[in-house]
Amino acid sequence: MSKKKVKIAMVPAAGLGTRFLPATKSVPKELLPIVDTPTIQHIVQEIYEAGIETLILVDGKGKSAIIDHFDLNEALEEKLTKLGKHDLAERLHEQCNLVNLVSIRQQSPRGLGHAVLCAKKIVGNEPFAVLLGDDLVDSPVPCIKQMTDVFEKHGKSVVALMELDKEEDLSKFGVAGGKKLEEGVWDLDTLVEKPHPNEAPSNMAIVGRYILTPEIFEILEQTTPGKGGEIQLTDAMATLMGRQGFIGYQFKGERFDAGDQLGFLKANINWGLKNPKLCDELKDYLRKVSQ
Ligand code: G1P
Repeated sequence: MSKKKVKIAMVPAAGLGTRFLPATKSVPKELLPIVDTPTIQHIVQEIYEAGIETLILVDGKGKSAIIDHFDLNEALEEKLTKLGKHDLAERLHEQCNLVNLVSIRQQSPRGLGHAVLCAKKIVGNEPFAVLLGDDLVDSPVPCIKQMTDVFEKHGKSVVALMELDKEEDLSKFGVAGGKKLEEGVWDLDTLVEKPHPNEAPSNMAIVGRYILTPEIFEILEQTTPGKGGEIQLTDAMATLMGRQGFIGYQFKGERFDAGDQLGFLKANINWGLKNPKLCDELKDYLRKVSQ
């Protein structure tokens, strides 16, 4: 059983972003901003704050702008410095040095399980984190840091869970079932991708944060297409659970679905209200329009 530290994260970023067309026709959905910060930058910040050193971005065609976003732009920094905008210049500089960024192409869109498998050779025989860029989590302790702590304690793969209020939403998520070990920590015995609400093992939905042991790769290689004709990570996780056990962790924080138009607006309002420059006027505006 592995108790190694998690030093590598992978983020799948090959999705077409069809829910945000026309905005995402030539701009990767990962660069759409929450206030002034692209969603992918929130994810990179979370990875950095968890002490993870390397990020493998599994991207697709038309996504090169993501890599450029994390590349130094000395001319722009110089210009900002000359204009006296030192804080902004510093911010742009810092975002390029948070993690070692490695990118690899997912050459055909064959599902989340396939995207994870693309990172096999780079990850090697190490435990690693997976973060889905559509799921943003606002929490005092970064969600993935909470999970690496749970991984280091239990030595088993960990998946983030949240309780769903509406039963009909269960069919939009992977769903987990199991036995409670302690507050927020579950020893899982069931993992199923997007079940019919009548067949769901619980109301605990999978959120896009995972710590996986490297044995997942050989399982993914054998995993046949599941729900939606795609190679599902949840299916491979169910096999891994049978071999090594799997922990479900109800993280502390609020999750936003930035891959959905309403969720994206909510995320912008949430982070807008946290911004001292915007907070008061935004509150006034929200009060006014909700009367
Ligand atoms: C993916 C996973 C699903 C998980 C969800 C969380 O689904 O397959 O198990 O619950 O992310 O956002 P997707 O939303 O990509 O269809």
